[in-house]
Amino acid sequence: HTKPVLFSGMQPSSDSLQLGNYIGALTQWVNMQQSFDAFFCVVNLHAITVPQDPAELAARTRRTAAQYIAAGIDPERSTLFVQSQVSAHTELAWVLNTITGFGEASRMTQFKDKSQKHGADASSVGLFTYPILMAADILLYQTDIVPVGEDQRQHVELTRDLATRFNSRFGDTFVVPEAQIQKGTAKVYDLQNPEAKMSKSAESEAGLIKVLDPANVTRKKIMRAVTDADGEIRYDRENKPGVSNLLTIYSVLTGRMIESIEQEFEGRGYGDLKKALAEVVDETFTPIRERTEELLADPAELDRLLAKGADRANEVATATLDRVYDRIGF
Ligand code: ADP
Ligand code: NA
Repeated sequence: HTKPVLFSGMQPSSDSLQLGNYIGALTQWVNMQQSFDAFFCVVNLHAITVPQDPAELAARTRRTAAQYIAAGIDPERSTLFVQSQVSAHTELAWVLNTITGFGEASRMTQFKDKSQKHGADASSVGLFTYPILMAADILLYQTDIVPVGEDQRQHVELTRDLATRFNSRFGDTFVVPEAQIQKGTAKVYDLQNPEAKMSKSAESEAGLIKVLDPANVTRKKIMRAVTDADGEIRYDRENKPGVSNLLTIYSVLTGRMIESIEQEFEGRGYGDLKKALAEVVDETFTPIRERTEELLADPAELDRLLAKGADRANEVATATLDRVYDRIGF
């Protein structure tokens, strides 16, 4: 390899990505694909760890891939693929299952959080072993860098532990990856509940800016965003979370400093800021939405692109898996 390897994935868990996914993940990936040998995976095996509808999952998988491409992931430059099309993921996950301690897996806080939501008995064993599948995803490509949010730090630590353990037990096989925690990137919050992060799995969609929503739907959501009674357009995360969130989004999408936006809107009302923001969001997402629709209108071509990605991913993944099987005596 001449370039370091990057692996990242996203679950096809909704019909549309939300603004946070766009600024916190997609735009970073687009920028990084020049300097890395990048693998971008739609992780549908992870998506079935919670109850899901088959037809919906199939549609969401295509829609997620289409949004990656529409936002600027170049399938000629980077390897874009669907996880279930590379069977080495489940095969390596099994091997890694056998070197993971039960106590070690039990310490994963995301499972604790998620299983509390669904109830321990309603949670699948797949949800429990999710981090081990994620370790397989990463290790198959001899990944150097995994760009993730803070919430995934523990899973990348487990991945490093498993790689190191396998290497010392069976001989050097895996690159031990590094997490690249996206610290500097702005966090955006729900428009209706600006204490909570914007999330595609939020219970209500009223506070979500979705990449694929029609412009008039997004405009309405922005115009109805929660603000405060103080009336001043000023960044103050603690006392004015709603207005601060609108300023953050405006700043990230225009590349302008918050102070300069505060100055522009001095003496004006929240309605003016919201209208301006709706326009900026529209300018950002309309081309992505239109390109996504074009890609979805030709599913055969999209499937061909994804099959090509899976071929390339399979080549690399199979080479790693062959070495693993050889090491463990298969
Ligand atoms: P979601 O909560 O929408 O399901 P995930 O937790 O799957 O999103 O995160 C996918 C990526 O999107 C991560 O890289 C994460 O950092 C980014 N991301 C998600 N929500 C936000 C947000 N509100 N602000 C900034 N980045 C976000
Ligand atoms: Na999520």
